[in-house]
Amino acid sequence: MKFFIDTANLTEISEANNMGILDGVTTNPSLMAKEGISDVNGHYLKICEMVDGDVSAEVISTDYEGIVREGRELVKIHDNITVKIPMIKDGVKAISTLAAEGVKINCTLIFNVAQALIAAKAGAKYVSPFIGRLDDIGQDGMVLIEDIRQVFDNYDLDTEILAASIRHNQHLLACMLAGADVATLPFKVIEGMIKHPLTDSGLAKFLADHAKSKG
Ligand code: G3P
Repeated sequence: MKFFIDTANLTEISEANNMGILDGVTTNPSLMAKEGISDVNGHYLKICEMVDGDVSAEVISTDYEGIVREGRELVKIHDNITVKIPMIKDGVKAISTLAAEGVKINCTLIFNVAQALIAAKAGAKYVSPFIGRLDDIGQDGMVLIEDIRQVFDNYDLDTEILAASIRHNQHLLACMLAGADVATLPFKVIEGMIKHPLTDSGLAKFLADHAKSKG
């Protein structure tokens, strides 16, 4: 399974990347705003130069011409750029156009299997189902990952399932069991994966015993 980090924070990206576990980065306009980024394209370039993997850069336009124009500009920044396009009618049309030009697309804001199938048929490299946001409205986000996996396998679709809006370890575990291709993780979830209280207490005992044995 590939791990992406879901942030625009360069310190977090650098720390995760230095652990050697990062396969890519996803951003969105909210994450960019959270970091107070004004030179958005310059920021994408910095991320691309740090991480050897796909970096999702989201379009702001919602009309076909605007999405295509933005997508063509974004891919000029760096080979790692993957254009993130929302699941709307003009977005689907733009995915078809850009994918035919060889642009890597991440179709975002996916909340049901039909949306995922349409994005795949249009040529998206990734679909991003938002698990946590479905949980927020009382639905089971993990069932969506399982269902998309089943449908993509039934029809031999090679679009990758990029599980997004992951809030905690249990989401990640369920994604792994359901066969998501990629999980994009907030930094705190990555930190949570590493920590276990028995690891901490076990290490403390090893170190204390070592100190004792040295007299
Ligand atoms: O990758 C999409 C993600 O950033 C959304 O997460 O927690 O805002 O639902 P969240």
